Amino acid sequence: MRVLSGIQPTGPFHWGNYFGAIQQYIELQDVADEAYYFIANLHALTTVRDKDLLKQYTLNGAIDLLALGLNPEKAVLFIQSDVPEVSELCWLLMTGTPMGLLERCVSYKDKLAKGLKADAGLFAYPVLQAADILAYDADIVPVGEDQLQHIEVCRDIAGSFNHHFGETFVMPKGKVLDQSARVPGTDGEKMSKSYGNTLAVFDDAKKQRKQIMRIQTDSRPMDEAKEPDGDVLYDLYKLVATEDEVAAMAATYRAGGFGYGEIKKALAEASERYWAEVRERREEYAAKPEVVREILAAGAEKARAKASVVLKRAQDACGVIGY
Ligand code: TYM
Repeated sequence: MRVLSGIQPTGPFHWGNYFGAIQQYIELQDVADEAYYFIANLHALTTVRDKDLLKQYTLNGAIDLLALGLNPEKAVLFIQSDVPEVSELCWLLMTGTPMGLLERCVSYKDKLAKGLKADAGLFAYPVLQAADILAYDADIVPVGEDQLQHIEVCRDIAGSFNHHFGETFVMPKGKVLDQSARVPGTDGEKMSKSYGNTLAVFDDAKKQRKQIMRIQTDSRPMDEAKEPDGDVLYDLYKLVATEDEVAAMAATYRAGGFGYGEIKKALAEASERYWAEVRERREEYAAKPEVVREILAAGAEKARAKASVVLKRAQDACGVIGY
């Protein structure tokens, strides 16, 4: 089984990124035959239009993944743009991609609806993502729920290429975790950088506590009981507390007579405990950026070795080499 996934360096990673996707990266690196994980800086370029910031987010993204447990001995960690084969493959795929398929993509439609001016890069974003996935013959793509549509688009694109030019690409499957496919943000909507409702993984405990205290809650009277599932505080608590703590918390909700202030305090404490070790580990990597760059260079080399084989296969299939 070959696993692949990417994450955009558009700012600090948040709980949604971790519990939806990164946690799966770490679990799968132990069981996959090959695992490829990359920082999608070419995708981020559609929104981060500041050179220095993009560079900073890109290196920080790699540092974050290492601190969170990605092991370069088990998985190939690299930067998307270090594998130019993927951009070449993207063009081959672009030529067979119907406009309508991309017009239906929620991420594009959402940005348009928010009044963002669309450029060709934003529109073609899912085609580059398809190239990312297909370039490594990936079978499994661990992601949060919001990316499943892009994986369906990838399958459509691969399917029609295979149909037209003969079997070339492996059909990938998305993989989401039931319990954290869609982590809620501090306003109860999906946690997302673009909604400004995130809890960052690597914020210091004090800042995180403040953010947790500001989480919006309903105005349920103190003495009233509440079903815990679906409550933002409880849903977030479930991610960072131990099983026993979660069971006790569920009982508190069902018994009634509690205030959200105390739940927030419990959430802040569980969060502080949960992240303490990785926050320390992050500082160690951040102090050695050269080591991280070496890991990325070695990763890019391995990734290119694989992607160039697949690119050649695709070029051969559609007749742009061997004339
Ligand atoms: P990105 O950078 O927006 O998010 C990275 C990963 O985090 C997941 N995620 C969430 N999961 C659960 N709950 C949430 N609230 C939440 N927010 C984010 C995302 O689903 C994703 O798995 N287009 C991709 C990057 C990409 C990619 C790829 C992914 C580029 N090429 C190839 C897979 C394969 C993106 O924007 O993810």
